[in-house]
Amino acid sequence: MNYPRILLLAVLLSLTAACTEQKPSTLGTDAGTERRIDELLSRMTLAEKIGQMNQVSAGGDISNYAEALRNGQVGSILNEVDPDRINAFQRICVEESRLGIPLLVGRDVIHGFHTVFPIPLGLAATFDPALVEEGARVAAVEATAQGIRWTFSPMLDIARDPRWGRIAEGSGEDTWLDARMGEAMVRGYQGTKPDTASMAACVKHFVGYGAAEGGRDYNSTYLTERQLRNVYLPPFEAAVKAGAMTLMTSFNDNDGVPSTGNAFILRQVLRDEWGFDGLVVTDWNSMGEMISHGFGADRKEVARLAANAGVDMDMMTFGFLSHLEELVRCGAVRESTIDAAVRNILRVKFLLGLFEHPYVDVEAGRAVQYAPAHLEAARRTVEESVILLKNDGVLPLDAGRVRTILVTGPMADAPYDQLGTWSFDGEKSHTVTPLQALRERFPGKVVHVPGLGFSREERSRFDDVVAAARRADVVLAFLGEEAILSGEAHCLADLNLIGSQSALLAALKSAGKPVVATVMAGRPLTIERDLPNCEALLYAFHPGTMGGPALANLIFGDVNPSGKTPVTFLRTVGQVPLYYSHNMTGRPYNGETLLADIDREAGQTSLGNTSYYLDYGAYPLFPFGFGLSYTTFAYSDLSLDSEVYPKDGKVSISFILSNTGDRDGTEVVQVYVRDIVGSVTRPVKELKHFERVSLKAGEQRRLQLSFPVSDLAFYGLDGVKKVEPGDFQLWVAGDSASGEPLSFKIQ
Ligand code: BGC
Repeated sequence: MNYPRILLLAVLLSLTAACTEQKPSTLGTDAGTERRIDELLSRMTLAEKIGQMNQVSAGGDISNYAEALRNGQVGSILNEVDPDRINAFQRICVEESRLGIPLLVGRDVIHGFHTVFPIPLGLAATFDPALVEEGARVAAVEATAQGIRWTFSPMLDIARDPRWGRIAEGSGEDTWLDARMGEAMVRGYQGTKPDTASMAACVKHFVGYGAAEGGRDYNSTYLTERQLRNVYLPPFEAAVKAGAMTLMTSFNDNDGVPSTGNAFILRQVLRDEWGFDGLVVTDWNSMGEMISHGFGADRKEVARLAANAGVDMDMMTFGFLSHLEELVRCGAVRESTIDAAVRNILRVKFLLGLFEHPYVDVEAGRAVQYAPAHLEAARRTVEESVILLKNDGVLPLDAGRVRTILVTGPMADAPYDQLGTWSFDGEKSHTVTPLQALRERFPGKVVHVPGLGFSREERSRFDDVVAAARRADVVLAFLGEEAILSGEAHCLADLNLIGSQSALLAALKSAGKPVVATVMAGRPLTIERDLPNCEALLYAFHPGTMGGPALANLIFGDVNPSGKTPVTFLRTVGQVPLYYSHNMTGRPYNGETLLADIDREAGQTSLGNTSYYLDYGAYPLFPFGFGLSYTTFAYSDLSLDSEVYPKDGKVSISFILSNTGDRDGTEVVQVYVRDIVGSVTRPVKELKHFERVSLKAGEQRRLQLSFPVSDLAFYGLDGVKKVEPGDFQLWVAGDSASGEPLSFKIQ
């Protein structure tokens, strides 16, 4: 037998197999659906194909669009919520256009549709993916009932700069937490198997958008490929693996290349490496904005750049509609590129069942909005998302002991503002504010003196509210930011409580009664100066429709707080960026002298030689993962099941968690890992696992947690993702700054 020849043949055969091997479909379409797509595509003219690649914002008279819809020039609309109009649009496409292809109707359903849940940053504070999935399902049920089958959510941009207004829209600073939240939202919106109550998720903004220089929206980013791959891309990859049907490009240019024209991320990473076979849409006019960026001279050029980079659908530039046909005819864009894009679009439409069910039942749709179960889910979500940052023992309040409650502050009765950014469809009239909830719960006991009419109001005298505070048993101050102070384009350079709110809190404190502050905001504000002026502080982000009842339940102890910070809280804005998972420097801070401690008399000339600020040190106000409870938890008897693990092994941790207080409570157990020596410098700690654990007062429980060693893989010096053998440390704790490390090795 000629072994070398057989071997050669075998190698050749396996190479051919590898070349012809189809990547698995991330959307999981079956052969039948792919045949339907091909069959439909084969009947489409070039103009009809390009029409599918065009997305238009609805508005105004239907007759404005009728002709374009009938001619097959529109594949998708956004910003339409009226189910009658949506049905009318669909009817034109399905019954009057040549091929009868239904529209994909998109909307920014970001944290709930009518029933508004906490802003995504608040959702992340729950550390509860199952609950977040439930909320996303509620949003899908309400939105799809009105004909919306595509939401531009989740936003998976890592944000480490709270000046950036869109920090509100994401899960904060951490890659692992962001990935888990993203997967949960994708599952919630789309369902495990798409049905008529499913809407396609759109993971956005691809990619790096949250790293805008200076925290100014739309600004340039300078992320290296390694940072992209280790920090910014994994949440997108996780969401794509969870089946996300669509993805949106971002506005920013990274290292000079706008995302909408970036073939490296849109083709190499997304399609070739991850095998994504869903739809890629631009952000609003982000194709057109490549002209402003100076990346293309005119709409024709940017249409070519976007199509060739891998964009399937143009949101509101009309660059494809106007120029693609000509670009194909002159050979600047291949027709096969157009076919691939249209396949991706049709795949989503088939998967959603739009061809079978293009219309909605308007009456039935109305009935599901604000369903009691939806409001209840929203309330539970707020209860898990609120973070107790300070408690001198005043909380929870004893309802039996307070006779007069002063409710004050600009957010106490701000039904629109408590909904937060991107809540187009939430309505003031359905929002329950803290004032309403407290009045209902304690008839005759609540005195309301606003103090300030809105968050930005400047006032210097607070005589009326201080007088009311003196007469009250307790002061509940609701402070924060109006909804318009965060969200897209709404960035801030000063992160202290805006207007005269800090002065209001100081004045309230002077009345001598216990002050409980609640902050509702779109970002972590710098509240260090406010902490001494309250006995307790709850951070609620913008809590949405059911903020009031949930906060009342927390303040009066029906529910024990369990939210944890999904982002580091800074002492001052000058600390930006400060996040827990930074790389180890050559000179880590070691508790050296601060300016305030300099001994002039001793003629001290040299201060520290490490990485810190002379005036603010090196630490934040509250670390990532932090949050108090009305009870306390202790970790003991921690051990690993081995000292050495193989690369394909599993790290198992055993420990006892004790509820050492006298109330039932829930702890978010967090596992952090440090890879001590790498081919490149590694983060001082990285979250690798978390779990909510509820324990009765005084209860002790032995817990076992585990995670695969492969979760420790990263892109090192050679640019290949792998686990690098060596020494590791591991912490199991209630936040990112606590606990004693355990050591282990990977071989
Ligand atoms: C935002 C996107 C949003 C789109 C559609 C853009 O301005 O950046 O996040 O989905 O508008 O409303």
